[in-house]
Amino acid sequence: MELTLPWSWYSDPEVLRLEQERIFRRAWQYVGHTGQVSEPGTFVAAMAGWTPILVTRARDGELRAFLNVCRHRGSMLAEGSGGRETLQCRYHAWTYELDGRLRAAPRSDREPGFDADDLSLVPLAVDTWGPFVFVNPDREAPPLADALGPLPAQVAQILDLDALEFRFRMEFELDANWKVACENFLECYHCAVAHPGFSAVVDVSPDSYRLETEGLTSSQFGPLRDGRESPFAGHEVPRGQFHFLWPNFGLNIFPGKPNLSCGPIVPRGPERTARFLDYFFAPDVDQAWVDELLEFDGQVGREDTVLVEGVQRGIRSGVLEAGRLMPQSEQLVAHFQRLCAGALAE
Ligand code: FES
Ligand SMILES: [Fe+2]
Repeated sequence: MELTLPWSWYSDPEVLRLEQERIFRRAWQYVGHTGQVSEPGTFVAAMAGWTPILVTRARDGELRAFLNVCRHRGSMLAEGSGGRETLQCRYHAWTYELDGRLRAAPRSDREPGFDADDLSLVPLAVDTWGPFVFVNPDREAPPLADALGPLPAQVAQILDLDALEFRFRMEFELDANWKVACENFLECYHCAVAHPGFSAVVDVSPDSYRLETEGLTSSQFGPLRDGRESPFAGHEVPRGQFHFLWPNFGLNIFPGKPNLSCGPIVPRGPERTARFLDYFFAPDVDQAWVDELLEFDGQVGREDTVLVEGVQRGIRSGVLEAGRLMPQSEQLVAHFQRLCAGALAE
């Protein structure tokens, strides 16, 4: 049996600081969907780890990402999302174009040597996969497609991403380290005992439920249970797919009508994690089915919250140094932990 990562890594602020620097500042991270920035003159603010970011579509139609930090004295520039021709900092009213250029700074004409051209917003890497917008704080990073590896082809086997429309976002926070939340996503060893509703629909037995890793991705494939009457049987999507992109992006497709939910697992502090899930459906999926899926998924989510917060309270106690992994059932967790340890060791 394999040892887990040291449990001190799940509450130590210094480890989280290193993770910000060595993981989140160089990884592709989901920040929202293209519908939020579909029109020229729109923006959306989000977090890539601890890096506040801003995605804009300027009048020239180009999608851009920036550090969401004013070049004057560092205030966060924009919040939320919406339509805007320019972005004005609330502190001293420096005003930026959506293409990042500083357009005006009050009283700058009184400052000899003030050069607005030097004070554009800091550009970051941005790219899309279907309706999903990803940002990487490292502009030198390899392209998003390299990180996604096999995921687009796997998803395309059961779903047409371009035929989905965004319906809503669900947001919540957890009293746990971000890695505990990721690891919980990465195994279904707990499903039979902890998720009776889910296990009644999806066949979670080890001979049917498939686990795969490739590069930065981890995937779980769960077929529908045979012969079970359920709202999820007999529709276009024949089986579930649950994908993860290192370091913190989860994507769920449940069997049933065309559906997908995805979002990031964002550290807020050593023992606090923020999550959101964007839900997409085919335009003709009726609200009754959407509600059914949400009830189903919400129940799984509530069960997971209890599990994840219970793990955090267990491992923070500091008496034991590490746990054990079951390499057959938890190979995706092991893969995640290897990526973590590798990044931190650099
Ligand atoms: S910090 Fe933004 S204008 Fe001063
Ligand atoms: Fe779970």
